[in-house]
Amino acid sequence: MNIMPSNFEVLNLALDLKILHPQILHTEQISSTNTYFLQNHSYHNGTVLLADYQTGGKGRHGRVWHSPPEQALLFSVLLTELCDRSFLHVYTFLAAVAVFEGLEMLGGSASKLDLKWPNDVLLEGHKLCGILVQNRLTGNETSQIVIGIGINVNQPANFFNGELSQGTSLNITLGRNMDRIEVLKRVLVGLDRWLFILGDSGEIAIFNRWRALCSSIGKRVLVNDGRQIYTGIFKDLSNQGGLVLETGGHCRVFYAADVTLTKETSDVGCN
Ligand code: BTN
Repeated sequence: MNIMPSNFEVLNLALDLKILHPQILHTEQISSTNTYFLQNHSYHNGTVLLADYQTGGKGRHGRVWHSPPEQALLFSVLLTELCDRSFLHVYTFLAAVAVFEGLEMLGGSASKLDLKWPNDVLLEGHKLCGILVQNRLTGNETSQIVIGIGINVNQPANFFNGELSQGTSLNITLGRNMDRIEVLKRVLVGLDRWLFILGDSGEIAIFNRWRALCSSIGKRVLVNDGRQIYTGIFKDLSNQGGLVLETGGHCRVFYAADVTLTKETSDVGCN
């Protein structure tokens, strides 16, 4: 049985979902929605936790994820019933596709959305959404996966300065404040659909959709793996979601790195 903290309320989003719970948990403030699920194990598969503000939001590579109160969409999805054949990486791609499609449905921003390997959704070339997938191990087995999603919704332009200068919000592009719950509903519908597809058809369906939505495949990119910077053509995703870079006449696969387009972003074709 779930023991729910008194500072959580239940929002019923009245969505027709197969895997995710339409009754989501909401709190005004929490350290991190991801960390909460990793430390509290009594919740059911498909539980969604939404926060208005995180005091210790987690980003990739141990970074901090900053968002002012009530301006971003900050939530995590808990998965405890896992597809045997799926590995952690695929959930990052799944979430990126779901966010892209959810935001596309909101209108006005579709043609300006893009995916950046491995876990960002871009709007007009700037980071709109970050995804952090974490797991809990029981012995050597993953017993739980947490998909954490942060979408910049209503932050004003002056929020994105200094180390956040690569970021943007829906408000900046669409020129109006958005209802965060409306955005959440769209994204949850997409997540639910793609989680179902993953269980039904496997990760290949996720990777194919991701490929179709990522404009930098086939383009010249810089890949920084923390030790060295490589230049080459982003040829494809590997079967495990790695970035296949054609560089110096051969292909190299990266599983963790930062990618940027080179200055000359001309199409050079891909197989
Ligand atoms: C990134 O570095 O791009 C990933 C950022 C992920 C942020 C989200 S916000 C909701 C969830 N809770 C966290 O602490 N992090 C994720």
